[in-house]
Amino acid sequence: MRSKLSRFAENTQRKNVVEPGKPIFAKIQGNWHSYFENDYPIVLELGCGHGEYTVGLAALHPKINFVGVDVKGARIWKGSRDAEALQLSNAAFLRIRILQLEDSFAEQEAAGIWITFPDPHPKESEEKRRLTSPRFLEMYKQVLQPDSWIHLKTDNLALYEYTLEVLRNREDVQNLTYTDNLYISDLYGIEQQIQTTYERKFALRGINIKYVRFQFR
Ligand SMILES: C[S@@+](CC[C@H](N)C(=O)[O-])C[C@H]1O[C@@H](n2cnc3c(N)ncnc32)[C@H](O)[C@@H]1O
Repeated sequence: MRSKLSRFAENTQRKNVVEPGKPIFAKIQGNWHSYFENDYPIVLELGCGHGEYTVGLAALHPKINFVGVDVKGARIWKGSRDAEALQLSNAAFLRIRILQLEDSFAEQEAAGIWITFPDPHPKESEEKRRLTSPRFLEMYKQVLQPDSWIHLKTDNLALYEYTLEVLRNREDVQNLTYTDNLYISDLYGIEQQIQTTYERKFALRGINIKYVRFQFR
């Protein structure tokens, strides 16, 4: 297996990795369409890890661009390699902290978000770090076009219930749809069937996969 350092070095040479230190990184906000050289919608995967959703969705939808976002370069490396191997010109990876999302995307530049198995941050004191907490939702609302879908997949019951509570308490959420057992649900469509690294681990342990989707008005 390649060391982290050699993965980081390869990322610097990969066109589909946008990260600090590259000239493209400083000017990417508002310029994703010229980066992809098309006008297709741009959908994000937050905390993408190895980028299974970014790669899987890009293969399913050639006329949508997908950007996997994660802070860990060694994980992004794998998604980037897989996207290259499949010659997916509509998949890219952005190495940032999600709190910096608005520095990399202009208002309404994105058209959808997938949040795949985020760290649950179970302690009350960590609520602000949950990717479905109000401050993150406000950020998503800024970068998304109205009526864009936000999808969450999680193994974690507490995060699932927390997310539903946060969303039910908002007046700007519509079409809230959810299941605490995705694999036996009507919501288990072709996109929902893509599996991530963490999902495979949890599913093997017999943990039900939970799924939530909604739009902001
Ligand atoms: C539990 S892993 C899930 C990875 C992948 N989505 C999966 O399902 O296999 C959470 C991922 O989110 C990333 N992450 C956590 N907090 C982040 C943040 N604030 N900004 C960027 N990435 C973050 C981690 O680096 C990690 O890759």
